[in-house]
Amino acid sequence: MMQRTFVRALAIGLALGLPGAAHAQPDGATTAEQTVDAMNALFGKHSGIRANHAKGVVAEGSFTPSPEAGKLSKASLFAGAAVPVTIRFSDATGVPTIPDGSVKANPHGMALKFKLADGSEMDVVVNALKFFPVATGEEFRDLLVAASKSGPDAPHPTPLEQFGQSHPAAAAAGGTAKTPTSFARQTYNGVNAFVFVDKDGKRQPFRYRFVPAQGEEVLSEAEAKTKAPNYLVDEIGPRLAREPATFRVLAQLAEPGDPTNDATKPWPDARRTVDLGTLTVTKTVPDSASAEKALLFMPNALTDGIEVSDDPLIDARVQAYAVSFGRRTQ
Ligand code: HEM
Repeated sequence: MMQRTFVRALAIGLALGLPGAAHAQPDGATTAEQTVDAMNALFGKHSGIRANHAKGVVAEGSFTPSPEAGKLSKASLFAGAAVPVTIRFSDATGVPTIPDGSVKANPHGMALKFKLADGSEMDVVVNALKFFPVATGEEFRDLLVAASKSGPDAPHPTPLEQFGQSHPAAAAAGGTAKTPTSFARQTYNGVNAFVFVDKDGKRQPFRYRFVPAQGEEVLSEAEAKTKAPNYLVDEIGPRLAREPATFRVLAQLAEPGDPTNDATKPWPDARRTVDLGTLTVTKTVPDSASAEKALLFMPNALTDGIEVSDDPLIDARVQAYAVSFGRRTQ
């Protein structure tokens, strides 16, 4: 019983449960390479496909900043005019055919590429977790490796169970992401902290939150199981053709003493949130499968006025995304 509940909870964070294919680490491989190797071992190697969040759909839209945003940050993004945005919604795991309603497809993700007035771009990459299962890239690699050795025939306590005992956030995090009725009805969180810098150089750590204007709408596991395998990917295009989807873009502001270097630690709900503006998603692109191949969203692709925090996961992500991109564009 403990095994199943724990694996399911962790599966939500990692979308696991594939038979225990153990994989060897070539000496000298970086943590990022070992992490992507572990993802390939868990999800299978799929040529030209992302090692994680493999299944997705590309859309377009715009971001219109609020007056408050410009007071927090000198970023041109918040200067006033609407900014074009490329968006990719996705399921979790590196399995390109995962059913959208599978509990393993949580957390769903949203990646954004803002096209700034000076021709540069800024990325934001968020998912439906309220906090992350681990705090460092090494721990994430170890969690994936433990999962790959915890298939259905693994003796108890499995490596995954043992990992969970020493990393209590690992199970809890997974349960915070639920299966939505639509990619447009899910709340997405930044999980990692970033830092606003205003025109006077004042720094303010924050975490993103994207809240659907129509409100979040999720399914029970039983309902999700009844859904067609591609219900999310198939639903979003016709939905946007009927009416654009809008998200309130919020920043939850840290107070002195709130940890910025540990994504397993959410800040208290009472922390002030500021409305940064509105994301309007207007249409899916005609050939999403080829469009997504060339797209790489990097959490550290920022602009003047927004900086990375001391959260070690940001660099771990950047390294792993680069490895995955390098392999899928070979
Ligand atoms: C150490 C922690 C993490 C690792 C190693 C990791 C690894 C990866 C990898 C390898 C990819 C595929 C990248 C590509 O081929 O373009 C990916 C995609 C993605 N990850 Fe992460 N990830 C981590 C943490 C996170 C966190 C904290 C979030 C959200 C808050 C997140 C959200 C996403 C999303 C939305 C995508 C899909 C991006 C797209 O649509 O192209 N990941 N991740």
